[in-house]
Amino acid sequence: MITIVGSGKVGGDAALFSALRRLDDEILLLDIAEGLPQGEAMDTSHALAELGIDVSVRGSNDYAEMAGSRIVVIVAGAGRKPGMTRMDLLRINSKVVGSVTAEAKRHAPDAILVPVTNPLDPMVHVAHRESGLERGRVVGMGGMLDLSRFREFIHAATGHSRDSIRALVIGEHGENMLPLVRHSSVSGIPLADVLPREKIAEIVESTRKVAAKVISLKGATVHAPGNAIAAILESIVRDRRQLVPVSTPLDGEYGHSGIALGVPAVVGRRGVERIVELDLDAGERAVMDAAAASVRSAIGGI
Ligand code: 2OP
Repeated sequence: MITIVGSGKVGGDAALFSALRRLDDEILLLDIAEGLPQGEAMDTSHALAELGIDVSVRGSNDYAEMAGSRIVVIVAGAGRKPGMTRMDLLRINSKVVGSVTAEAKRHAPDAILVPVTNPLDPMVHVAHRESGLERGRVVGMGGMLDLSRFREFIHAATGHSRDSIRALVIGEHGENMLPLVRHSSVSGIPLADVLPREKIAEIVESTRKVAAKVISLKGATVHAPGNAIAAILESIVRDRRQLVPVSTPLDGEYGHSGIALGVPAVVGRRGVERIVELDLDAGERAVMDAAAASVRSAIGGI
């Protein structure tokens, strides 16, 4: 069973995308709001019925029902409203993520935790600290979402199929996000050989800013995060060992410890199986260090 705690729009979409990918026979949506997870589960099941997909999606308000889950996704908490930064959510959401983690520890101690709630990197730290789990079993989803956006901008600028675009976005899921231009390509052809330097700079900036743009237009980001969650879950449940960006507690990698940050990692059945340390150039390192400083100061404020 996969449990998703938080049955708002992103949690609901994560359940739908996970069911469409048939990631488990059973998906549980949990929420403290009475009726919401039940209604979401019904609506999703009706769609699955037409598609002929036999994945059971249930909704509940009872945390005890997560017993036996192999993965617990944490999406619960206040969402980002127009004009807010992810850090504005820090105080309120650290309480929510702390208490959901405590419930997961109690009812599903063997589960891998996938925090999604913002500000993502500090929330991964909270979930890790509160759970006492070995760090590889806390797999924060943020970079995968940033990567979806980077890919889309590269697709739009080059006209090449989205499928042929390989890229990485690490650092903070926030202001100090680091799209790795040198490690991004169209079918292996480096981005720098495909697009002019100014266009690449524009794409990098747009990747950092586009979530705020979507929020200002429609009030929230929904489908891209819902799908990115399912993508991370797929690498775990199918033991695909994909090299993807995730936020995970660092222990000396990239020169930082005691914080969680987005890094490239091999994600499989046991969660984060290996963090890949790239040789960053001076500019990239400066962004990574600023990201670390921002997350460290947020954690200090909790
Ligand atoms: C996003 O990037 C708001 O962090 C959320 O869509």
